[in-house]
Amino acid sequence: MSKLSKDFLWGGAIAANQAEGAYLEDGKGLSLMDIATAGKKGVSRHFTKGVQEDVYYPNHEGIDFYHHYKEDLSLFQEMGFRCFRTSIAWTRIFPNGDEETPNEAGLAYYDDLFQDMLDKGMEPVVTISHYEMPLHLVQKYEGWANRKLIDFYLRFCEVIFKRYKGKVKYWMTFNEINSVILMPEIAGVLDRTKDDFQTRSYQAAHHQFVASAKAVAMGHQIDPENKIGCMVLTLVKYPLTAKPEDVMLAEQNMRKGTFAFTDIQVRGHYPAYVKKHVERLGIHVQIEPGDLEAMQQGCVDYIGFSYYSSSAATTDPNVEKTGGNMVSGVKNPYIPTSEWGWQIDALGLRYILNRFYERYEIPLFIVENGLGAYDQINEDGYIEDDYRIAYLREHIKEMKNAILEDGVDIIGYTPWGCIDLVSAGTGEMSKRYGFIYVDRDDEGKGTLERKKKKSFDWYRQVIASDGEIL
Ligand code: BG6
Repeated sequence: MSKLSKDFLWGGAIAANQAEGAYLEDGKGLSLMDIATAGKKGVSRHFTKGVQEDVYYPNHEGIDFYHHYKEDLSLFQEMGFRCFRTSIAWTRIFPNGDEETPNEAGLAYYDDLFQDMLDKGMEPVVTISHYEMPLHLVQKYEGWANRKLIDFYLRFCEVIFKRYKGKVKYWMTFNEINSVILMPEIAGVLDRTKDDFQTRSYQAAHHQFVASAKAVAMGHQIDPENKIGCMVLTLVKYPLTAKPEDVMLAEQNMRKGTFAFTDIQVRGHYPAYVKKHVERLGIHVQIEPGDLEAMQQGCVDYIGFSYYSSSAATTDPNVEKTGGNMVSGVKNPYIPTSEWGWQIDALGLRYILNRFYERYEIPLFIVENGLGAYDQINEDGYIEDDYRIAYLREHIKEMKNAILEDGVDIIGYTPWGCIDLVSAGTGEMSKRYGFIYVDRDDEGKGTLERKKKKSFDWYRQVIASDGEIL
């Protein structure tokens, strides 16, 4: 028998800014992602100065999850989801981010959303900050580079921890916290042309570590039942060759890209290699009295992470590069790539699960995994996404191996974009991840009608059989 336990949390994941739309409804303020343009494969998105009239912003409408959530949750229920991961848009609760009192309409919306999940048998899994923050905090305070952000964030946390006590148990403090270094713009740290850009980025990272740790401590205090995790983007690196230099480089890349963040948030302090790295950069990060103690007192309960692909590392500069989530990597000749150049490596999932578990021995939660692909509707109006099924099947097999063969403790599995949504990286709709198709294109045209893909029935069967039938 190769079943997983009945309490394994099968589900799916989305983020508020990529799905909800309704960007100005019920008192919501403008968020940073509301000024992100649409890019496409090979063309990056950028932030405009405020909302401009003649520019198309895909996140403004998203997939209109804000008004469709009941229908969408019913479809997830039909697939048998036991949990559902989404985020709370900070700007629905604090439209500008620095107000004293929250916006009741925003709070009420998430009350209804979480209640509907619970009514439909789904445990809410909530990311507190998923790639969006009030635009006002970027414009007035320069984003997370400003220490004041810690207090604004904690005020937001306190309000939602108290309001959703008893409804939400699984939380994550920052989506892919390593993005604060990989892409500081997402943390509101703008203008790469300025000399202090790197210093501001590292300062922003420190502020997020302190804010996250304080949020963990606060969340536990408000409700001891709360399970509060970090969330990192896993950048799995293999040495391209057995050359010792490549092996060492791959390991250093793993630490710099991924383990530095989990080491800090799981163990509660800056490891020696991080201090050395910052020293070498020659930048000064301001650490206030009490910060290090706060970090020590706010260690996370579990590691939430995203895993999409792996890449290679080598000291040889003359090698082929390929695309990837947030950062490009060295092409590994042994594995295929997606249409966006992300390398497909199911075994890499078992590899990172084991690396995390042997390092920390705390529960893990795979909160993102999936294949972004172009879907075609056939003559019968059906989408036969066998490529997506193949990707997920292989990854689930490796996840099961990690649990059943290696003894790794995994809370659940929530494939990314279980319903099609706006791509974070490119702003496209045509980069689809879902089991459910949404009729909307890259220009924002379409009826928003939802349609089950072939993978919908496949995933339903996976969950119903506790992962046995793949
Ligand atoms: C993760 C993010 O980096 O990858 C998601 O947490 C994102 O927000 C996902 O959507 C897939 O990336 P993309 O660029 O294909 O949307």
